[in-house]
Amino acid sequence: MTATIIDGSAIAQQIRDEMRAEVERLKASGTDPGLVVVLVGNDPASVSYVRGKTRDVEEVGMRSETLRISADVTQEQLLGLVSDLNQDDRWHGILVQLPLPPHIDEGLVTSTVLPEKDVDGLHPVNVGKLFRGERALYPCTPHGVKQLLLRSGHDPAGKHVVVCGRSNLVGKPLAGLLMQKAEGANATVTVCHTGTPDLAVHTRRADILIPVMGRPRTITEDMVKDGAVVIDVGVNRVEDASKKAGYRLVGDVDFDGVARKASAITPVPGGVGPMTRAMLLYNTVLAASRTV
Ligand code: GUN
Repeated sequence: MTATIIDGSAIAQQIRDEMRAEVERLKASGTDPGLVVVLVGNDPASVSYVRGKTRDVEEVGMRSETLRISADVTQEQLLGLVSDLNQDDRWHGILVQLPLPPHIDEGLVTSTVLPEKDVDGLHPVNVGKLFRGERALYPCTPHGVKQLLLRSGHDPAGKHVVVCGRSNLVGKPLAGLLMQKAEGANATVTVCHTGTPDLAVHTRRADILIPVMGRPRTITEDMVKDGAVVIDVGVNRVEDASKKAGYRLVGDVDFDGVARKASAITPVPGGVGPMTRAMLLYNTVLAASRTV
């Protein structure tokens, strides 16, 4: 079998177009949606991610501001800043870019953002609502993966989904979303992780395989069932002297081999990444709509 490519960039564009219309509707009814991003330190990957996120926000007509904070900010100062932003009506969404420096407790910071402004979906209230099957702000990557499956014609209902990875940002909430008794979910979900003794035993049983490991090209052809749908969440830099930057991006999947076996597969880049960014727009619009 040779896989069809699931074009995340094209599906993300559809969502951006939908959000542009929603923003116009919100503005017409007197709400001017705004996202504030807190960026601590100068990590080049984070700086580049944040630049992309704010560019997307502005392109669909929303306001955004990035607050650049020195890496030696104290935890108390950062919590104070987040509390001020919670009270500031100009901002419907607050995003604190991760990772934070090691002297800051990320869990405490993400729990300090008001749940109704938590466009990352990381506050315990939003996490709890997700697992209870209630409407909430869901984390952008898991929600983006669900939308990618649905909009590419791969409804997970009744399918065996195998998620490889159990992070709070992606693996756990993705499993939580897809296991719900709800339209566009209703899958049987297996979660594999670093404590799983024989990963391939599980990956070979997947109708839909979703690696989120952060380990380049770990999922090989022999680990995938014929005809499986493969959604590669991994984004890894590997050295490549032929590139100007000296590296290129690859997923957790060995694309060429797995594409021979799968029925559909996402590329890296151009698969899940653009969907994560699109769902941030969706969450910011949702957060703004609730105040109308
Ligand atoms: N760092 C990497 N991914 C993310 C994300 O989705 N949200 C935040 N806040 N930081 C990140």
